[in-house]
Amino acid sequence: MLILAIESSCDDTAAAVVSGPDKETLPDRTGFSKVTATTMTPLRCYKNSLNRQCSVDGFRIKSNIISSQFDVHARFGGIVPELASRAHIEAIRPVVDQALLEAGVSLDDIDCIAATRGPGLVGSLLVGFTFAKALALVRNIPCVGVDHMAGHLLSTFLDEHPPGFPYTALIVSGGNSSLFTVEDQTHFQPLGRTRDDAAGEAFDKVAKLLKLGYPGGPVISNLALKGAPDAIPFPRAWLDKNSLDFSFSGLKTSVVNYVNRCRQKGTPPPVEDICASFQEAVVEVLVEKTVLACKKNKHNAIALGGGVASNSRLRERMRIRGEQEGLSVHVPSPIYCTDNAAMIALAGYYQFQQGVVLNPDDDAYSRSPLN
Ligand code: KG4
Repeated sequence: MLILAIESSCDDTAAAVVSGPDKETLPDRTGFSKVTATTMTPLRCYKNSLNRQCSVDGFRIKSNIISSQFDVHARFGGIVPELASRAHIEAIRPVVDQALLEAGVSLDDIDCIAATRGPGLVGSLLVGFTFAKALALVRNIPCVGVDHMAGHLLSTFLDEHPPGFPYTALIVSGGNSSLFTVEDQTHFQPLGRTRDDAAGEAFDKVAKLLKLGYPGGPVISNLALKGAPDAIPFPRAWLDKNSLDFSFSGLKTSVVNYVNRCRQKGTPPPVEDICASFQEAVVEVLVEKTVLACKKNKHNAIALGGGVASNSRLRERMRIRGEQEGLSVHVPSPIYCTDNAAMIALAGYYQFQQGVVLNPDDDAYSRSPLN
């Protein structure tokens, strides 16, 4: 079965073509030359990973196209929702065309369309979700609405060595910081979540304060390599004993106060040490709460997902703690940590197998029912 998946929950327009295990597809046809990438809009920050064999038996990623909007939002230091929706409208058609083209298929070959239904920015979601429903309607094929979190929770299966069920998953991105039990491909139990800022949001806000640009995570983690993680004792929000919730707004305020004190004294803030110490405070809490969740639930494995999961310090510390505790740690390649449509195809496939498909009037949602 061949799935076309579309993701537009935030500031990445993404499309992927993935073949599912039940039919080794690529029908014998030459008609795909009909599909040409439209030249309406050049793709921004075009990323692709092609023809990758997923670790789940029989899945194959035939194309995985991501067009990001960094240049649209960079000067605002964060995402501007209306600009995001408009940029999705420009990108959706070329991105889908490119995904089909690189997969070497046409719409006639697609058996099912999967699209992110929520959570996210509703204006952004509606572009991809409505595009997917309309396409499915005119092609007379089923359409599946996928929860973005479900995609991240399964994204570890896009790489080699996935965990066995059940496992503990930490999803950390610009909009979420949550812990889940993943019971199987379609059943997820929430264990904890942020009470205020998401981890990625904290990275972005600290970067904005230090005038480092947007998105903040990659630049902070690079600068942190040159700083000392114990230079500034920023607070760790452990919350109540054994709590699996997170809180990052106090840490962010602490960085603001530290920088203001430097500026009042007329000394330049030690940016590299601030980045290293801030990152360490975020990473320590994420790692320790994830290990606690895993042990509490007697799981043997931890999986990471979301943009912040590409943070090298987080990946390193999680691996070390996992080894110490005898837990296996599974971290997707960075291209599958960030928002992508391949993970939506995977989650959509399993939903489709259970007969969960959309009606034409089904709506997008901003908050995940899973959380
Ligand atoms: O999952 P994602 O691509 O998109 C959404 O949140 O929708 O995550 C983006 C977030 C941004 O906040 C970005 O600053 C953060 O992930 N991020 C990182 C790193 N790379 C991206 N945070 C810390 N370290 C990184 N290396």
